[in-house]
Amino acid sequence: MGDVRKNPKKNEMQVRLHAKNTFTIIMVIGFVYLAYLIFFESGDGMPEIDVDLKDVISYAVLAIEMGGHAVTKVHEENTLNAAAKGLTDEGKEELLTRADLISNHLILDILQRFPRLQVVSEEKASEFSERELESYRSDNYAVWQSVKETLDRIPSRRLQLSDVRVFVDPLDATQEFTEGLTEYVTVMACIVVDAEPIFGAIYRPFYNETIFGLQGFGVVTSDGKTLTPVDESKTEKKVVVSRSHAGKVKEVIQKVYGDKMEIEAAGGSGYKTLRLVNGTAEIYLHTTAIKKWDTCAGDAILRTMGGAMLDLEGEPLRYSAADPILNKKGLLSTVLTSGNMSANWSEVVDFVTSKSASSFLPRGFPERATTLPSQFPVATFYFKRFMRNCYQK
Ligand SMILES: *[C@@H]1O[C@H](CO)[C@@H](O)[C@H](O)[C@H]1NC(C)=O
Ligand SMILES: *[C@@H]1O[C@H](CO)[C@@H](O)[C@H](O)[C@H]1NC(C)=O
Ligand SMILES: *[C@@H]1O[C@H](CO)[C@@H](O)[C@H](O)[C@H]1NC(C)=O
Ligand SMILES: *[C@@H]1O[C@H](CO)[C@@H](O)[C@H](O)[C@H]1NC(C)=O
Repeated sequence: MGDVRKNPKKNEMQVRLHAKNTFTIIMVIGFVYLAYLIFFESGDGMPEIDVDLKDVISYAVLAIEMGGHAVTKVHEENTLNAAAKGLTDEGKEELLTRADLISNHLILDILQRFPRLQVVSEEKASEFSERELESYRSDNYAVWQSVKETLDRIPSRRLQLSDVRVFVDPLDATQEFTEGLTEYVTVMACIVVDAEPIFGAIYRPFYNETIFGLQGFGVVTSDGKTLTPVDESKTEKKVVVSRSHAGKVKEVIQKVYGDKMEIEAAGGSGYKTLRLVNGTAEIYLHTTAIKKWDTCAGDAILRTMGGAMLDLEGEPLRYSAADPILNKKGLLSTVLTSGNMSANWSEVVDFVTSKSASSFLPRGFPERATTLPSQFPVATFYFKRFMRNCYQK
């Protein structure tokens, strides 16, 4: 950033002021865009706006951490209330709605620094008075300070704002949140260019842990540690599945892997992705419909690690404005491991198309699953093995 000349002569002030200046400059960027827009909007048509991906990423990370802190505050508040009064079902519902909406509001607030940025969120924007929000807002300078060093390492890349979409999940694992199972709760943001998620960030507010992945850069924690895939031999032989639809998946896993894979029911798509990332699970399987703000950030992180989320027709998920938000075709996700990547897709397709489809696979599976997304060799390998085993037993 070009703020060196603004540094004061006094040495002991330099470090802090340098950081503060950089922060201020970033905060100002949004307003410069606004001015830019107002200036050009008098003309015909929309002007193309150029953004630095790095700035959008910085705001997205700041946003989910702010949202996440609010989620923990709503939770604390309610733990006190619940201890005093006991929490009814209605009370739980209220708690959830409040945490979700406040987190969403704070996130959108920060992302609005980029006027006209397309944001796809699970929640609609809602009105809160500044007084109401005040107690949930953390000091955004302090939050930004804690991730700044890592964000500074991200290379600059110019993009047209109209090509960028941000997916936001202000509170993932909502059911678990109301049950007090806070280890599953995450807040996520994801940046999509065209149909592809290129950046994803997952924040675990109750553990104050953030990881993010940028394609071509890598996956890092907010304190700067680079995460690489765990070797397959050291990866736990576990399939993580949703707590709410575990029943049907168990049948499938049993059929495909017999007793070789343990099944663990866990809440939240963000959380399950984190389990793949640190090698405490090998596969994340979902056989029912799932919304794309639940998968986008995890998908970006897994792609960055050489893995992917494929639907159960073997296709990578697409996130363009033309694609539906609801993915009805299930998920099979893995990270890069040292597994055998040379298994033969066309053999699997031949095999699959020669049998009648099982009841648990999406209708029409054999006809559709004929293309091999070659950019995801590892996930595709798992997918092939999975499908082969499905149909052989
Ligand atoms: C969260 O973690 C960051 C380091 O990643 C640290 O700087 C910050 O103080 C922590 N916040 C809280 C509330 O513990
Ligand atoms: C792996 O990640 C999950 C989710 O973040 C966490 O609960 C667990 O403690 C981690 N385990 C290890 C061994 O890192
Ligand atoms: C990997 O797969 C190929 C083709 O299916 C096979 O020939 C080879 O033996 C396998 N290697 C390992 C280590 O399993
Ligand atoms: C894959 O399978 C097809 C059909 O069985 C076969 O023609 C092809 O040679 C195989 N390729 C590899 C690399 O094994």
